[in-house]
Amino acid sequence: MVDAAQNAVIRRLIRAGAGSDDEIDALLKDVGLTEVARVLVEEVLFRCPEPANTAAVDVALDLTHGGERHTVALRMVRDEPIRTVEDDSARVRSRVAFTAPDLVRRLFGPADSPRTGDFRNSFVPTPQDPGQVSELLAEMNTVLRAAAQATATLMAGCTGRCPDLGELSIRYGSDKWASFHWYTAHYERHFAPYRDRPVRVLEIGIGGFDDDLGGGSLKMWKRYFPQGTVFGLDIYDKTALTEPRLTALVGDQNDPEYLTEMAREHGPFDIVIDDGSHVNEHVLTSFRTLFPYVRPGGLYVIEDLQTAYFTDFGGSTGGVAGPGTSLGLVKGLIDDLHHREHREPAVVRPTPAQSTVTGLHAYHNIAFVEKGTNGEDTLPSWMDADVWTALGAK
Ligand SMILES: C[S@@+](CC[C@H](N)C(=O)[O-])C[C@H]1O[C@@H](n2cnc3c(N)ncnc32)[C@H](O)[C@@H]1O
Repeated sequence: MVDAAQNAVIRRLIRAGAGSDDEIDALLKDVGLTEVARVLVEEVLFRCPEPANTAAVDVALDLTHGGERHTVALRMVRDEPIRTVEDDSARVRSRVAFTAPDLVRRLFGPADSPRTGDFRNSFVPTPQDPGQVSELLAEMNTVLRAAAQATATLMAGCTGRCPDLGELSIRYGSDKWASFHWYTAHYERHFAPYRDRPVRVLEIGIGGFDDDLGGGSLKMWKRYFPQGTVFGLDIYDKTALTEPRLTALVGDQNDPEYLTEMAREHGPFDIVIDDGSHVNEHVLTSFRTLFPYVRPGGLYVIEDLQTAYFTDFGGSTGGVAGPGTSLGLVKGLIDDLHHREHREPAVVRPTPAQSTVTGLHAYHNIAFVEKGTNGEDTLPSWMDADVWTALGAK
């Protein structure tokens, strides 16, 4: 679980990462290097991929600020969680050192922040006598490779950059790529412009079965948006997943009162993703209630549109998704987007969707709705069909 103080530090770190050196200095002065380092190391450990080295290796991360130093030694080996261990210089094979402001910028700053730091390897011992050289070379073959792999794992955790969403989906156990769905390429396309912003992301549907709490996609979003704050909503209690920058909420996506209260507390959101029950009625309730809480310039995503044709999800038969279905909603949004073109009757008072849907991208089973001000005017009313014909328009 996350305490309020930790959340406050994270919020300041996200702001300071994109801000001035003075902001980072002020944060370090107020909170102290030890507390800042605790939060930074937790973030680094979250971002690290699984270690690839088969031989266990200790690597150290040094953080400095002013005259102070904070060190954490990490033991890494394949198939085991990375754990902190005593900083034993006889065991530590490589040492990665950043000034605290450097690491703040690497983790929370713009993608083009300078990548500086001190990187020292201690995995090459000095031979005591010539006879030891071949022994050391043999050891280096295994130790050097393991140390390099472990150091690379640590370095991959010390950056905002990350593998593509397909790989993250597999890493964290979401089904958005290469299992049931092929969504992540579409997500890459539409989410890339938001990547280096302090976005607030809400996903309906956390996933997981039996003892598995799920949360794969929430972790994927947390890693993909290095400055992001991620909320997951599920009908089942998965609050044990709550950690820095990730909050699991309990509620029913078909309950407008709950959704409104939740959005008032945690929104507005830059991105809302509906990967919940996929019951058509629920999809419509969530969209109608939550779209107003998407920020202008934001996105609302609806997954698994196929249930628009599944009768046990309230879908339609006969190959045409009706108005009460998710796809009916999506098709209706195209009409809403064009409300200024409606004739007989013309729209006098646009609905919220008509005023704020500015774009729509539909792919197989997934749609992205853009939010903004749908303010483009129609053509002048005297430009009727005769005028068009006279102008030579087709
Ligand atoms: C497909 S899973 C989500 C998978 C997850 N987003 C991922 O990609 O890893 C759907 C989730 O929706 C939740 N759910 C079902 N009905 C719901 C409702 N009425 N309100 C909120 N969540 C619901 C289920 O408990 C389940 O965890």
